[in-house]
Amino acid sequence: MWSDGRVPAQPAAEERPMKRHHTARYYAHRVKESLTTRVSKLICAIVLGLLFLIGIISFILWLSLRPHRPRFFIEGFSTGNSVIAYNVTARNSNQNIGVYYDSVEVAVFYQDDQRLGGEPVLQPFYQEPKNTTVIAGMLGAGTSTATGQQWEQIAADRARGEVVFRVEVTSVIRFKISSWDSKRHRMHANCPVRVGPDGSLLPNNVHKRCTVYFN
Ligand SMILES: *[C@@H]1O[C@H](CO)[C@@H](O)[C@H](O)[C@H]1NC(C)=O
Ligand SMILES: *[C@@H]1O[C@H](CO)[C@@H](O)[C@H](O)[C@H]1NC(C)=O
Repeated sequence: MWSDGRVPAQPAAEERPMKRHHTARYYAHRVKESLTTRVSKLICAIVLGLLFLIGIISFILWLSLRPHRPRFFIEGFSTGNSVIAYNVTARNSNQNIGVYYDSVEVAVFYQDDQRLGGEPVLQPFYQEPKNTTVIAGMLGAGTSTATGQQWEQIAADRARGEVVFRVEVTSVIRFKISSWDSKRHRMHANCPVRVGPDGSLLPNNVHKRCTVYFN
């Protein structure tokens, strides 16, 4: 009932006479409108141009200042008698950018996915540009979660000629660029490891570079 009474006829009745009376004003209005569109188009173009220029300058700055992720290498790995020893190095390859390591954790996996244990290593430290840090340690009685069956499998693989492991170094780092510190990044280094019958890293695996990714 309410809506029935309000909706019909009213707008149509007013619109017709209005249009006739104001045609001149209507065209003037349109000319003015097209002028404003032109001006706003010009302003838009200028703003876009400036943004583009700023973008290019920032890109060039970023290219020259951008931090390179640290490089990780597997230097040593050995297994025997329910103990695993690992040695990984982390190198800051940046010319002028330092790296804060807020935490470092090492985990060792058998065949990529069976976790044999892990531990936090090193105290938080600052790594100067072009410096290398050794991350070496052992998984044994207190720190290893490997089962007797897994040690047997490892021994059997060794007797057959090769055991495959994976060392994962997880760290939280910040870059130090001049006096500015970046936000924290969680970084993973993945090092595939192949061990020979003698229980130590195969010679062609020594100093092999690990893959690094952030998340
Ligand atoms: C780890 O490897 C580095 C580089 O080869 C070596 O300098 C260092 O002495 C090794 N550390 C241990 C504990 O094996
Ligand atoms: C790496 O940093 C340590 C500690 O700051 C320093 O003693 C060592 O000389 C540095 N090594 C190189 C190669 O710069």
